[in-house]
Amino acid sequence: MTSGPVDPTTTGAWGRLTALAEAYTPDLRSSVTAEWVEQQTLSAADLHVDLSKNLFDAEVEAALLALADEVGLFGHRDAMFAGEHINVTEDRAVLHTALRLPVDASLHVDGQDVVADVHEVLDRVYAFAERVRSGEWTGVTGRRIETVVNIGIGGSDLGPVMAYEALEPYRQDGLACRFISNIDPTDAGQKLAGLDPETTLFIVSSKTFGTLETLTNARLCKAWLLEHLPSDSDPAAAVAQHFVAVSTALDKVADFGIDPDNAFGFWDWVGGRYSMDSAIGLSLVIAIGPDHFADLLAGFHAMDEHFRTAPAQDNVPIRMGLLNVWYTNFLDAHTHAVLPYAQLLHRFPAYLQQLTMESNGKSVRWDGTAVGYDTGEVFWGEPGTNGQHAFYQLIHQGTRLVPADFIAFATPAYALKDATPEGQSTDVHELFLANFFAQTQALAFGRTADEVRAEGVAEELVAARTFPGNRPTTSIMAPALTPGVLGQLIALYEHITFVEGAVWGIDSFDQWGVELGKQLAQQVGPAVSGDPDVLDEQDPSTQSLIGYYRKQRR
Ligand code: F6P
Repeated sequence: MTSGPVDPTTTGAWGRLTALAEAYTPDLRSSVTAEWVEQQTLSAADLHVDLSKNLFDAEVEAALLALADEVGLFGHRDAMFAGEHINVTEDRAVLHTALRLPVDASLHVDGQDVVADVHEVLDRVYAFAERVRSGEWTGVTGRRIETVVNIGIGGSDLGPVMAYEALEPYRQDGLACRFISNIDPTDAGQKLAGLDPETTLFIVSSKTFGTLETLTNARLCKAWLLEHLPSDSDPAAAVAQHFVAVSTALDKVADFGIDPDNAFGFWDWVGGRYSMDSAIGLSLVIAIGPDHFADLLAGFHAMDEHFRTAPAQDNVPIRMGLLNVWYTNFLDAHTHAVLPYAQLLHRFPAYLQQLTMESNGKSVRWDGTAVGYDTGEVFWGEPGTNGQHAFYQLIHQGTRLVPADFIAFATPAYALKDATPEGQSTDVHELFLANFFAQTQALAFGRTADEVRAEGVAEELVAARTFPGNRPTTSIMAPALTPGVLGQLIALYEHITFVEGAVWGIDSFDQWGVELGKQLAQQVGPAVSGDPDVLDEQDPSTQSLIGYYRKQRR
């Protein structure tokens, strides 16, 4: 990185977009023609992406693409793939894309053969997973493993748990995973309940191996294991057979008492929130098996290749990332909904929250200069149709602009038929998808007052029952929720996040804000436990809240 980031507001394209936004009066009813839909329907690997119901026209599209060019997006993208230190504040390469390079690819970064390193660990992960899946790896009393408990938080939890849920049909029978993340003791209490220690394997997953939550939960689990195993079990052998670790800090793993032979490494060039396809995915590999995990990686890689090589106009992450910039900086949107019409993706929005908001929640550019524009939308969502009966009202008729991504699959995980009392048989997935199609239609095209009147609605209710329309959506479809398609979807959002961060000139790969909370929790801890001197050092509100806690605690 030689020169500083471009302030995007100084570009010609930014000025043009400002003028276009002022003059823009959307009318999706007239602008969504067959020709427009054809132009704005893109493919990326197995994903079929319809951008046509977004609020933009050809001039806006051209100006957004010019903005990408003027801020140097394409060079920045190439620098990431090449392993340059684009994580400037931590002076690190950003190479999650290397985690899914095929074994015959070639990439040397900072003197290291990255592809060889990645595949060396992957082979160990696969071999270990096979031993657990086949029953060759046993607990200390010789029984095969039936439950894998991943202990981790943030990027060491959200990806594995999301994918474990999403790929439920691919799991091996008789082998379940549980995930402990929160330092709220309820989490460990609930997840350990009913477990048989003799058949449980714990994976301590932590990039730094210094995260308070994870180390506390790991100690709780170790104590629980030793307490509940048969009393003649040798403690060292018990830990060796029931605990493995995934980390970049293998020395700290050894200090914890885990055999380094049972530890799987990764590298500082993998951000926590970009790590689920590293050894951090070990619990998932055990659950779905190496072949399906390899399919997942191939899906990631297919999207990487699309992002790296497709022309900007046809490049789905670039187009979606630029539309998000348009909504955030020119149309005053503050949030972005992700609405999967797939129950198996029920943890996908939570996963995306860390990916997008930890990455782009920044108010200085990567050289430390303050941004003079909004960054980082609030990402949120729930699966349809549940969300329809909860918050869609605000998207349909509220005063706020909420761009939304709708995600659906042609073939369901479970094909069920509903037999009506009249003797008709209905494919329930089609009922489900009818909602998916109808919602984006209603959001885009609304219902005019005249249409409401024509239905015979009383005049005094017409306003309340009118839908303004022009609510933007992107529809993302794929043949089915396979491991490969899941990898494509995740990589799509990784690269959308990258595109937005690149336009804003921020470092999307650090997270200094989170570090402050960690430090303060350490500093307040003694006051919570009753240290009067530390309590005195706190602000009046914190003192009062801790006082309430200490009086109420039973
Ligand atoms: O929440 C902050 C964070 O640093 C995340 O970026 C990271 O994914 C998480 O903590 C867990 O960190 P680690 O894997 O080092 O335990």
